[in-house]
Amino acid sequence: MPDSASPSAGTAPAGSTYNLVFVPGDGIGPEVIAAGRGVLEATGRIFGFGFEWHEVLIGGVAIDAYGVPMRDDDLAASAVADAVYFGAIGDPKYDDPRAKIRPEQALLALRKGLGLYANLRPVSVQPVLRASSPVREALLEGVDMMIVRELTGGLYFGRPSEQRKTPAGREVVDTLFYTEAEIRRVVKLAFELARGRRKKLTSVDKANVLSSSRLWRTIVDEMKPEYPDVTVEHRLVDACAMTLIQRPAIFDVLVTENLFGDILSDEASVLAGSLGMLPSASIGERRTAHGLFGLYEPIHGSAPDIAGKDVANPLAAILSGAMMLRWSLGQAAAAEAIERAVASALAAGYRTPDLLSVTGDATGLRPVGTQAMGDAIVAALGAASDAALGAAGGRPPAEAVR
Ligand code: IPM
Ligand code: MG
Repeated sequence: MPDSASPSAGTAPAGSTYNLVFVPGDGIGPEVIAAGRGVLEATGRIFGFGFEWHEVLIGGVAIDAYGVPMRDDDLAASAVADAVYFGAIGDPKYDDPRAKIRPEQALLALRKGLGLYANLRPVSVQPVLRASSPVREALLEGVDMMIVRELTGGLYFGRPSEQRKTPAGREVVDTLFYTEAEIRRVVKLAFELARGRRKKLTSVDKANVLSSSRLWRTIVDEMKPEYPDVTVEHRLVDACAMTLIQRPAIFDVLVTENLFGDILSDEASVLAGSLGMLPSASIGERRTAHGLFGLYEPIHGSAPDIAGKDVANPLAAILSGAMMLRWSLGQAAAAEAIERAVASALAAGYRTPDLLSVTGDATGLRPVGTQAMGDAIVAALGAASDAALGAAGGRPPAEAVR
């Protein structure tokens, strides 16, 4: 999963302390974020940096505590942090479609308020998890894509967005609105990411029906000459949804409108074996002393049905922490160490329930809960750093002293 194209990839000085806002949120959010923090702390101990954590309540928990899904002060605190580490929000208590206040409003306000216009969702398949995917194993060979979802425009933010009463009954409107500048900046980022990867860009739209998509497509074509090394293709979102499952390995970077990206990325997670595997980075233009400011969250939701049971998969949150180290904190080597630790814990057989095969056959596997999976990653990090020190002539590897 290493993403060598991240503009901030670099190495920050050892001894740095990063100022992080963390948002446990609702449902399984607090559990996966606790596991992720444990892994980040362990990584910091190995690589010589630390964190100051500032907890912020956002979502259903904030409605319960303050009557609003997010307080202005909490947005302001997030805006001055080095990065935001986010769990998940959403609570069935607030699912009533007539409710005026909903937890999700906070996430949208946070994305918009922090100017996080691009959501990066890398999708790759851990070789040992191929059997966990309902998609045939042969189709998964070589799957490695980056979905770039526009995050602060489109259908999520266009106004009007409302229900009205008319003499003829109720009517409702949502608006898909984009300015040229909004399209251009996210497409530019996607081109640049493609340049650092396999140099292929798929722009996904619905240009046969939507005006917004026709401008989107025109802008991609206008920008193409600036990136002669990148191959560009356009796909309609409906056909693309099909190709994502039929031939997932043909994709490199995809770029698309907010709602299309939301839907396609959940679909793509099926390839990885579980929604619980996919991390994400939401980034904008603000730079900090260490890299690009961003918000890091698993793509999964708050999964209230399994909350509080220690069964949620924390790997998406842990891998989101790795993305944070790479993109926002200038700690690319530490990010790779986490990604290797995840691969090695999976190879050693550790599986949360979502990763056990569809048949439930756990022969040779080690079924674990959320905390134990976090501990397995911390142990794998430690084992790798011991081995590295041993190879460098320092402390002997743990195996050698047993
Ligand atoms: C996501 C989620 C959110 C979204 C919800 C919780 C508002 O589905 O991050 O993909 O739709 O963006
Ligand atoms: Mg979603």
